[in-house]
Amino acid sequence: MSVMRSVLLAISENRWMREQGPRLWFVRRAARKFMPGEAFDDMLRAAGELRPRGIDAVFTRLGENVTDAAEASAVTRHYLEVLNAIAAKGIRCEPSIKLTQLGLDLGAEQAYANLRALAERAHATGNYLWVDMEQTSYVDVTLDLTRRVKAEFPRTGVCLQAYLYRTEADLKGLIDQGIGVRLVKGAYKEPRAVAHQGKADVDAAFVRMMRTLLADGTYPAIATHDEAIIEQTKRFAGERGIAKDRFEFQLLYGIRRDLQTSLLAEGYRVRVYVPFGREWFPYFMRRLGERPANVGFVLKGLLSER
Ligand code: FDA
Repeated sequence: MSVMRSVLLAISENRWMREQGPRLWFVRRAARKFMPGEAFDDMLRAAGELRPRGIDAVFTRLGENVTDAAEASAVTRHYLEVLNAIAAKGIRCEPSIKLTQLGLDLGAEQAYANLRALAERAHATGNYLWVDMEQTSYVDVTLDLTRRVKAEFPRTGVCLQAYLYRTEADLKGLIDQGIGVRLVKGAYKEPRAVAHQGKADVDAAFVRMMRTLLADGTYPAIATHDEAIIEQTKRFAGERGIAKDRFEFQLLYGIRRDLQTSLLAEGYRVRVYVPFGREWFPYFMRRLGERPANVGFVLKGLLSER
C-alpha cells in the first residue's frame, strides 16, 4: 500500500477529521464527484437517470460507527421510509447497509434488531438487502448476522473483500449456504497479518475468487473498475458458458462511466452504487485512497474559483 493511500485511509478513520473535513468548501465540492448529493431525493434522481440507460442502482445512506442507540434507530427508521418510498415509486434500487451505522459498535444484538427490521421491509416490498463489509474486526459478526437474517429473508447478500486472506474460505461457506456475494478488492487499511498489501496479490486473489463465484455462486456481483479483471471475468464466463444475465458488474457512482456504458453495450448487466447522506467524509477519503491522483483534482478545486 502506498504511503499516500495509508495517510488518506488514516484520515478517513480519524474522528476529528471526520468532523472538520466536510467543513472545507473545496473538499465538499470535490466530494460531489462521488455522490449526487446529500439528500434522499438526490439519490432518487441519480437512480432515475441510470434507469433509461439500462442500469439498476444499489444505494446507501452514508454513515458509519454510530455509537448512539437513538441515532442507530433513527437511521433504521429512515431506511424503512426510504424502502417504502422506493416501492411506492416503483424504482429498482437495492439498499446496501453498513452494520456499524445500525449500531454494531454498541453490540451485535442491537445491530441485528435493526438489520432484521430492514430485511423484513426489503422482503415485504420485493427488494433485496445488501450488507457492506467494513474493517476486518467486523467480518465475523457481519457474516454471522447476515446468515441469521438470510435464514428468514432469502433475498440477502453480503460483500466480501478479496484482500483478506480469510476470504477464500468465507466465500466457499457463503456459496454453500446460497448467500449472494458482491466481490470487491477491499477499501480499508488492513495490516499485513490479515490482508494482501500489493496490488498484484490482491488482483490475483480477486480473480481466483471471481472464478469460484461465477462457477458456483448464485447471481454473483463482480464489483470493480479494474478493466483487466473485468476482461478476465468476461473471458471466464464465456469459456464456461455462463450466460450474461447470470451475474452482474457493479461500479461506484462517479467512477468510470465509460465502462458502465461499454459493458451495457456488450450485453452485460450493470448496477451502480449510489451514495447519499451527510456523513460522506470517510467514504470520500476512501475514494481518494483508491486513486491518489484524485488528490490532484481536490487541490485543483482549491486553486479554482469558489
Ligand atoms: P483498483 O483500485 O485497482 O482500480 C482499478 C481502476 O479503477 C483504476 O486504475 C481507476 O481507473 C479506477 N478507479 C478505482 N477507484 C477509483 C477512484 N476512487 N477514482 C477514480 N478511478 C478509480 N469495499 C469494501 O471494503 N466494502 C464494501 O462494502 C464495498 N462495497 C463496494 C460496492 C461496490 C459496488 C463497489 C464497486 C466497490 C465497493 N467497495 C467496497 C470498494 C472496493 O473495495 C474498492 O476499494 C474499489 O472498488 C476500488 O477498487 P477497484 O476494484 O476498482 O480496483
